[in-house]
Amino acid sequence: MKQSKDKNIRSELKKLKQENKRLKVLLHLADNLQAHLDLDKLLLTTMQEVAKILDADRCTVFLLDEEKQELWSIVAMGIEKGKEIRFPADKGIAGHVAMTGDILNIPDAYQDSRFNPEIDKKTGYRTRNMLTMPLTNRDGIIIGVFQILNKRKVAFDQSDEELLAAISQITATTVENSLLYEEQVESLNSFVETLSATLDTRDYITAGHSRRVTMYTLALCEQMQLGENPCEELRFAGLLHDIGKLGIPEAVLFKAGKLTEQEYAIIKRHPAVTRQILGNIHFPRKLKNVTEIASTHHEKINGNGYPDGLQADEIPLGGRMLALADVFDALTSYRQYRDREAIEKVWDIIEKESGQTFDPKVVQVFLKTPLNHLIEILEHDQKDHLDHQDLLKLAPHTFSEILKIKRGRIKKLTTTQKNLEKLFDKYYLRKYMPA
Ligand SMILES: [Fe+2]
Repeated sequence: MKQSKDKNIRSELKKLKQENKRLKVLLHLADNLQAHLDLDKLLLTTMQEVAKILDADRCTVFLLDEEKQELWSIVAMGIEKGKEIRFPADKGIAGHVAMTGDILNIPDAYQDSRFNPEIDKKTGYRTRNMLTMPLTNRDGIIIGVFQILNKRKVAFDQSDEELLAAISQITATTVENSLLYEEQVESLNSFVETLSATLDTRDYITAGHSRRVTMYTLALCEQMQLGENPCEELRFAGLLHDIGKLGIPEAVLFKAGKLTEQEYAIIKRHPAVTRQILGNIHFPRKLKNVTEIASTHHEKINGNGYPDGLQADEIPLGGRMLALADVFDALTSYRQYRDREAIEKVWDIIEKESGQTFDPKVVQVFLKTPLNHLIEILEHDQKDHLDHQDLLKLAPHTFSEILKIKRGRIKKLTTTQKNLEKLFDKYYLRKYMPA
């Protein structure tokens, strides 16, 4: 009697321990998944974590593309990143689960007539056992399918099914949040792109300015390895930095002659107007600094800028980056009445202002810009003229190399340096062709 009671207690304890372990796993997963809003990263983390938790070889989350009636997975483990698997939503085991909502636990895939061996054929993988479960949202609608392949030692059992059911619920919620978020960012993106392009078109004197400033800033961002999110903020800030010019009368903005003091004061209002306009746009959390960055592009390190006369680190790094990109573009752009300023003169002006207008660190980083990138940005409006072979030749060289050549700092140029100068001039000294 006592022995059987002990056995019961031991079995209950074992169950409790298992339950405890499972709860910990779920909490850890939920925590991990909620940190990601980016769909690719979210799916990748889910697939890696779930394969680990269930001691399986591979886990794939297929999402249902309602419009095309296809199941797709953007990143599958063991398959090259970015490669997408897509197939009709009613095909194979995953298709069956997507259509019926059944849970399928199959100990030998090749013995099951519903199994679609095409993916194995494409990827060179051999599926043995599999557990497939629908991903269902809070309204009970199937949004995708969870598929776990090749449990390492044995086949999947009842407790795996229960655990995966709980994981599916967490995943469905996080995936839906992420999809909603991506949709929001996408619509904001198309709105901002259109707004910025409209601004660039309105101001025919500086056509394409916002786009090029954005590209220079992103080139700096890449060199500084600031990470994906700060770069995304900079992209939005770059596209919108001069949006405040919409509030400047055309008679002042496009005046051909010299501006009066009063007119210049009106022009100087535009970053404050940028702040006002952007302050009314609701940016998602990860783009919360866009307004501040965009509206500080005329601040100067020495405090003599506008609208707030901020100094040094008081100006956000993004604002300091935009300031340099803004002036570099103004100096290197064609105007109706003149060609581009010589590049060595452009840099003389920038260097003189380093530590006054510009952050010296940002100025130094700009020198590292690869030449192919620089030419691509300079010639962005005329990119049909760009020769791909030329860009390849420019790619190993930086902006500082061409400056040394142009400033006559090298006594005797090598053939490579002479060719590099010729190639740079081919684009930089191109005669202005009005559109
Ligand atoms: Fe501006």
